[in-house]
Amino acid sequence: MRSLSQTETALPALGDILVSEAQLQARVRELAAEISQDYAGQDLLLVTVLKGGLYFLADLSRHLTLPAAIDFMAITSYRADSPSGVARLLKDLDEDITGRDVLLVEDIIDTGLTAAYLLRVLRTRSPASLAICTLLDKTARRIVPTLPIRYRGFEIPDVFVVGYGLDFRQQYRTLPYIAVLKDEPGTIPDRR
Ligand code: IMP
Ligand code: MG
Repeated sequence: MRSLSQTETALPALGDILVSEAQLQARVRELAAEISQDYAGQDLLLVTVLKGGLYFLADLSRHLTLPAAIDFMAITSYRADSPSGVARLLKDLDEDITGRDVLLVEDIIDTGLTAAYLLRVLRTRSPASLAICTLLDKTARRIVPTLPIRYRGFEIPDVFVVGYGLDFRQQYRTLPYIAVLKDEPGTIPDRR
């Protein structure tokens, strides 16, 4: 039997696939179609938070049928660094968003604290409109009751998921599907 590498032994195993690659791609196309209709004639800027939103943004944006710009922010994660609810901006936008139609593209909304923080930051810059498109919505854990979620890919139960941008300690982002993380160490199964 081959011995496990360091990465393999250090990581919890993947559990069931919650959203398959085919399901993801089909839903992303539907969302892109809705967004293309809703933002016709507007100055759409897709804003994503690194690194988790990268895959969703890339797929979503390439199915849009209207002109759109993209930009990125990076923040400290509430979960990793500050459970007290204080976030910090690590990378700001390059674009001026004043008077533009900003769609915040998120990988997942859990407690909602991160999204609320980002909205506060963006609102001070007077965009023409500001809404959220989230791939995953974990409503069971929501703390912030009112978020302007205009588009939602999938509502998921209160489980920790990885893949398609979502990580556990920087691993598993590159999987093309969303899987539940188990708590035992293990290896990455076939990409099917
Ligand atoms: P919030 O609780 O809505 O502020 O979410 C904070 C951040 O926690 C998200 O942007 C994700 O980076 C991370 N997060 C929340 N739930 C999960 C999960 O199930 N898997 C991976 N990351 C998660
Ligand atoms: Mg995130």
